[in-house]
Amino acid sequence: MRRSFATTTGEPSCAPTELGKQPGGGFQLLDLPSSEAVARHAAELLLAACLEQPRRPLGLATGRTMTPIYAALVALVQERPAKEQETLRSHWCSFNLDEYVGLGPEQAGSFATEMRLSIGQPLAIAPHQVHLPNGLAEDPEAEAIRYRDALCKAGGVGLQLLGLGLNGHVGFNEPPCAANTTARCVQLSASTRRANASAFGGDPDGVPTRAITLGLAEILEADRILLVVTGAAKAAVLRRLLDQPPSADLPASWLHQHPSVCLLADPAALSG
Ligand code: GLP
Repeated sequence: MRRSFATTTGEPSCAPTELGKQPGGGFQLLDLPSSEAVARHAAELLLAACLEQPRRPLGLATGRTMTPIYAALVALVQERPAKEQETLRSHWCSFNLDEYVGLGPEQAGSFATEMRLSIGQPLAIAPHQVHLPNGLAEDPEAEAIRYRDALCKAGGVGLQLLGLGLNGHVGFNEPPCAANTTARCVQLSASTRRANASAFGGDPDGVPTRAITLGLAEILEADRILLVVTGAAKAAVLRRLLDQPPSADLPASWLHQHPSVCLLADPAALSG
């Protein structure tokens, strides 16, 4: 059964104003001609969200899908007038989905390092404005709750950027995972550790076994969701996501319950 989603033809949109409620849920799909076009459009949507009033925290993700998006965002920002760049820099407030347990912000492989190198340093944004769970917290479960509360105190996410894991995870919400699962410390599956090994010299045994992640509950509380899926490797899981009804064995499928999901995908990811 093919699930419903509205496709947008012509000038790609998914701009904040167009990210309004989809009639009856479903994704607004933008199938762009290349992964470069996807990265550029995602960056435009992120920048628009940064400049929106009233300001809301940006929900950010990590992984290879995000690398070209952040590079495109940095390029877009650096083209803006100096005054606008300064405003963006001083008002920046983002919350990442997750962080590995046992890795500190200076350690290679940590998501904090990934965010510092891709966004913090290029845009000269102070580390305290780019929020991630503390991977070195004594009590990761307590840290997950602290982090969720800090996000709530900051007003909750306006636009949530998401990638899609090969086993259908979002953040580190591994299957099986219910829609009401909240921020917590999780055990990473062998397939996820294999998929993420590239940041650890290609050795799955070098990937931490646990992580702190926002849950589906927090993700679904975002005002708007921008799901980005590129590359042939994601074609099978994206096909499952577009065809299957929401279920715990495909955590990303709970996104069908959200009223405003924009899916940006390239032809390779849609080739399933
Ligand atoms: C990790 C991250 C997810 C990300 C996934 C896919 O598990 N926690 O947020 O979506 O990897 O990453 P990639 O874009 O490298 O395929």
